[in-house]
Amino acid sequence: MSSVTMSFRFAFLHVLGILSMTPISFGADLVAVPIECGTRAADLEDSPDSRAMVLCPANCALWKLSVFGSGIYASISSVCGAALHSGIIGVSGGAVEVQKLAGRSHYHSSYAHGIQTQSLSSWSASFTVTRSISLPMEVSSLTITAENPVSGPAKKAVKKPPKKPQVVENRDCLVDIALIIDSSYHIGQRRFNLQKNFIGRLAAMMKVGPDGPHVGVVQASETPQVEFYLGNYSMPKDVIFALKEVAFGGGNTNTGKAILHTVRHFFNPDFGMRRGVPRIIVAFVDGWPSDNLEDASVMARESGINLFLVNVAKPIPEEMGLVRDQDFMKKAGCKDNGFFTLTMPSWFSTSKFLKPLAQKLCSVDQLLCSKTCYNSVNLGFLIDGSSSVGDVNFKLVLSLLSSISRNFDISESGSRIGAVQFTYDQRLEFGFSDFTKKDEALKALQSIPYLSGGTATGDAITFAMENLFQPRSMGTGKKFLIIVTDGQSYDDVRGPAIAAQRQGITVFTVGVAWAPMEDLRAMASEPKDTHTFFTREFSGLEQFEQPIVRAICRDFTEFN
Ligand SMILES: *[C@@H]1O[C@H](CO)[C@@H](O)[C@H](O)[C@H]1NC(C)=O
Repeated sequence: MSSVTMSFRFAFLHVLGILSMTPISFGADLVAVPIECGTRAADLEDSPDSRAMVLCPANCALWKLSVFGSGIYASISSVCGAALHSGIIGVSGGAVEVQKLAGRSHYHSSYAHGIQTQSLSSWSASFTVTRSISLPMEVSSLTITAENPVSGPAKKAVKKPPKKPQVVENRDCLVDIALIIDSSYHIGQRRFNLQKNFIGRLAAMMKVGPDGPHVGVVQASETPQVEFYLGNYSMPKDVIFALKEVAFGGGNTNTGKAILHTVRHFFNPDFGMRRGVPRIIVAFVDGWPSDNLEDASVMARESGINLFLVNVAKPIPEEMGLVRDQDFMKKAGCKDNGFFTLTMPSWFSTSKFLKPLAQKLCSVDQLLCSKTCYNSVNLGFLIDGSSSVGDVNFKLVLSLLSSISRNFDISESGSRIGAVQFTYDQRLEFGFSDFTKKDEALKALQSIPYLSGGTATGDAITFAMENLFQPRSMGTGKKFLIIVTDGQSYDDVRGPAIAAQRQGITVFTVGVAWAPMEDLRAMASEPKDTHTFFTREFSGLEQFEQPIVRAICRDFTEFN
């Protein structure tokens, strides 16, 4: 009896408070906050008196609701489910008053009003539900119920004093995120829903918005499936709504396969990817992945995507035998520095991880994988145009340099290329800022006209330093000089090459025919073996494409 009186008094004062603060705009959303059938007490915002007024939609009994306890419920229970179980609301839903309580050491299961609850050994917080008897509330509640049938509006937290719920996008967090959710038999339908709930809350906390973070969702089960792309939804409530529609897949946890699929097909400008915006994959893994993550994570890294791995309920020592790659956490992330992984003990206690995860995803400076060897290098080519090369072989040299260049993302904000041809003389063919479109840069490279003359490689290096590697024309990335020569230089090569290296330029040498190994090694950066290439025949040049690209990427990664 006394609790009813109290709740009435509370409700009454609450209404008075609202009326005095907002005398005119007495909106329905200021009274009881509409929630979803699955909203848990733990999701409701804390208020000083640990009470909340909520409004359950109709037909919650049709949902599979998780309710733990009887009379006193664990805070991970669905509030509307508890209200149904207690007989406080029926099929048409209605207003419910929630009182939060301390945790208990045991919650009993029982069956009442068509709802079977579960037992739970202990939980950190509890709640009870009571009927909300305030008349004005019931009236406005009914209005809301009528307007919002089963699916209901997006979840909102209870606020007292009430504020207009307004999402302001976070413009400081400009990132494109693919969330890979685990939908294996391992996680099961129930925890799958908790995962969706977590992701919805993450989107809300990150303040997804048109000029803020964008998110899309990929489901990892037996075969990956894109649920929605970056460009599909730009507001948290739309993301949350779309998540509700995501059906449980089942099968193995092929996270590696899903990451590969996401790298190849999800980050696409046609599907809303924004150019120049850091790209992130967050892969949620319940337990452990069924497949190998290593290839997928290398692929993500090399594609400039920052891979985060969130492991929930990680394998216990007895399960380790079942895990294909026991180091999957270490190997998967963008870098093994602890920043790109997160471990949550279970899907039932994720709230405290929301904010740290959101903060990580918005720490743009720490997204070390955004820059890659492909999108952040300046490749300078120093091309021997001496008479011994000949017209046909000169074309083979240009062909090697073009196929190397083709591997890189050449653009205004990405990688750049430039070229100098030398004999005794030097000619700047084109600078780093002359062609910042990939096809134009490749065309310029392929159409360099052959000079013919002597060979002065040392002078040519000095010329390239002064005329090609101009701070004004270079991109922000690392500098590489690739020297191709077929013969002995008439001048000293060592001095100019060392001067170039001191300026932060990594030197590769490619020798053909009569180029002396001694000179090639003298000019190349350390370690000499990995920066020096030699072939007797010009036709052997093409085999160096991939080794040189890989060597550039290796240097880039070590430098970063
Ligand atoms: C999401 O975006 C993709 C690519 O733009 C489009 O093909 C698809 O129809 C969109 N889906 C929805 C549900 O809007």
